[in-house]
Amino acid sequence: MEEGLTKTKLIFGFLLVLYASITLTCTHAADTISANQIFRYNETIISAHETFELGFFNPGNSTNYYVGIWYKKIPKRTYVWVANRNTPVTDTSCELTLTLQGVLIIQNATTSDVIWPSANSSMTTVRNPIGQLLDTGNFMIYSDNVSHVNPIWQSFDFMTDTLLPGMKLGWNWVTRTERYLTSWKFRDDPALGDYSLKVDTKGYPQMILWDVEKIKFHAGPRDRLRFSGDPDLKPNPIYNFTFVVNQREIYYQYNLIDTSFITRLVLQPSGNIECLLWVDSIQDWSLYLTPEGDYCDRYVVCKAFGSCNIDKSSLCECLKGFEPTSPEQWRVAIWSQGCRRTTPLDCGPSEGFNKYINMKLPDTLGSWYNQTMTLVECENMCKSNCSCTAYTNLNASGTGSGCLLWFGDLTDIKTIAETGDSLYIRMPPSELGIPENRSGDEDLELRLFCLSSLLTATNNFSMDNKLGEGGFGPVYKVFYDSIVGSVLLNIRENM
Ligand SMILES: *[C@@H]1O[C@H](CO)[C@@H](O)[C@H](O)[C@H]1NC(C)=O
Ligand SMILES: *[C@@H]1O[C@H](CO)[C@@H](O)[C@H](O)[C@H]1NC(C)=O
Ligand SMILES: *[C@@H]1O[C@H](CO)[C@@H](O)[C@H](O)[C@H]1NC(C)=O
Ligand SMILES: *[C@@H]1O[C@H](CO)[C@@H](O)[C@H](O)[C@H]1NC(C)=O
Ligand SMILES: *[C@@H]1O[C@H](CO)[C@@H](O)[C@H](O)[C@H]1NC(C)=O
Ligand SMILES: *[C@@H]1O[C@H](CO)[C@@H](O)[C@H](O)[C@H]1NC(C)=O
Ligand SMILES: *[C@@H]1O[C@H](CO)[C@@H](O)[C@H](O)[C@H]1NC(C)=O
Ligand SMILES: *[C@@H]1O[C@H](CO)[C@@H](O)[C@H](O)[C@H]1NC(C)=O
Ligand SMILES: *[C@@H]1O[C@H](CO)[C@@H](O)[C@H](O)[C@H]1NC(C)=O
Ligand SMILES: *[C@@H]1O[C@H](CO)[C@@H](O)[C@H](O)[C@H]1NC(C)=O
Ligand SMILES: *[C@@H]1O[C@H](CO)[C@@H](O)[C@H](O)[C@H]1NC(C)=O
Repeated sequence: MEEGLTKTKLIFGFLLVLYASITLTCTHAADTISANQIFRYNETIISAHETFELGFFNPGNSTNYYVGIWYKKIPKRTYVWVANRNTPVTDTSCELTLTLQGVLIIQNATTSDVIWPSANSSMTTVRNPIGQLLDTGNFMIYSDNVSHVNPIWQSFDFMTDTLLPGMKLGWNWVTRTERYLTSWKFRDDPALGDYSLKVDTKGYPQMILWDVEKIKFHAGPRDRLRFSGDPDLKPNPIYNFTFVVNQREIYYQYNLIDTSFITRLVLQPSGNIECLLWVDSIQDWSLYLTPEGDYCDRYVVCKAFGSCNIDKSSLCECLKGFEPTSPEQWRVAIWSQGCRRTTPLDCGPSEGFNKYINMKLPDTLGSWYNQTMTLVECENMCKSNCSCTAYTNLNASGTGSGCLLWFGDLTDIKTIAETGDSLYIRMPPSELGIPENRSGDEDLELRLFCLSSLLTATNNFSMDNKLGEGGFGPVYKVFYDSIVGSVLLNIRENM
């Protein structure tokens, strides 16, 4: 029985090898790799329209070799994915190949030792595996046929530090995989760095930037609305933004509508999240926005019930109906104790909610949500639970739908003029009805994936838009959403 199986396997394997060598000699499919086909350090796989290239490289002055994917057409070598980031090879005697089991491996050419595998175990049903590098930058491995659906493995599931259009940052509950970005260790060292950008699902999903174990930054939970249906952000012809929450997956994604643009979001070794656009006229990447807008976007600057406003000299203010827990410390800009209620709650029947507008919503760790409830149902639900401190709707367009509840202290609130969200905070009867009216700076805030200004930021970067030379290189004038005015954009010299 066992022997019979082995024999079948052998014959099958032989046929596959035969098949592989036939495809090798007959067709010249440069964007694919078949089982047992070998790529040496100086050979690459190139996507159909020559957008991306996969092969061995050594970054900058590093003497280590890695397998990775880079832009084929961009003269400034830019890597979007690295296979063996933690297991570099130190000489060129290595090979890249696809095993009969459908696993991409880097192996030592002399000893055949596996230096890096794309997967530890493989599906038992793999037949005729084939790998293909797509023009999206995704390397996919299929069983039997190039299908683009149900690949047995894809590099988009194992991100490095770069989010490309079409990648899904977040969770796939079906395959139980989490996709997230991790920075390179140093500029020339792709090893796992200290920073990672993940979608957190303890509560309503939100994007969190981690510095090892410490939260550095959280992106407000409603960012999807700023990109879909929010009147403040006009639809644009270049990209769209998707945020999906359902039983199968939870992810953030952006897609290019105008594919002539080359853009990427990268988590730098410094921990900065940068949205970069390739500008042909200067033959370089330009940084056009970074989601961590200002000091107020740092994690929990003002502590409980405090709101951060970069325009105020004091930075932190207690929300209306709240006062500094320690007025002495608050006066000298020590906010560590946050704010407390002027009048405590007792969960009495006449408690209600005040509406606070223009906010970056509080941290949603520990929050609760339901995507179909109405705002009225949401209020009732919050009211009926004494530990519920605030609520809002998930979808602000139309009459508003969905429900998001907070329990306990509200933290990491920021004032965002004009485009912020509304939040309904539980109040004792004596505080009800006090209007909260705030205004702040122009909102150049936190456009997660920040591709907004890309639209007009480009204008092909004509020299007409050049304002002068800043400390970091030329400074360009950019029309932001055509109306807000101009923002300064530094063209970075050192990428
Ligand atoms: C790669 O290098 C080997 C020897 O080092 C050489 O024989 C081969 O032609 C090279 N292949 C390419 C595509 O340059
Ligand atoms: C490589 O080393 C040279 C000389 O030490 C240095 O000038 C250059 O900036 C380095 N390049 C990179 C990418 O680090
Ligand atoms: C391959 O193995 C040989 C013998 O152990 C070793 O000398 C060589 O450095 C290895 N090459 C790589 C790329 O690991
Ligand atoms: C393979 O297994 C090792 C050890 O269990 C683990 O650290 C690694 O992440 C696994 N790699 C893949 C690609 O699953
Ligand atoms: C791959 O599948 C498609 C549709 O299922 C089929 O039309 C095509 O002939 C298959 N190709 C190969 C090489 O089997
Ligand atoms: C975004 O644009 C892509 C490409 O045009 C399209 O396939 C996709 O359906 C769009 N998604 C949304 C949410 O509009
Ligand atoms: C969400 O609320 C609706 C309406 O109240 C209810 O029918 C549904 O079961 C709730 N879903 C969850 C997951 O709680
Ligand atoms: C109030 O909400 C909290 C958090 O979801 C939950 O643990 C608690 O059971 C709720 N209390 C009531 C009375 O529903
Ligand atoms: C938000 O609400 C609007 C209007 O009710 C609706 O058209 C839209 O589909 C909703 N969006 C989501 C993501 O539920
Ligand atoms: C609140 O803001 C609105 C619109 O920004 C304005 O019309 C109104 O006068 C403000 N109310 C107060 C009390 O400042
Ligand atoms: C930008 O460049 C492209 C191609 O070079 C050209 O088709 C387009 O008209 C230019 N746009 C502007 C605003 O100059």
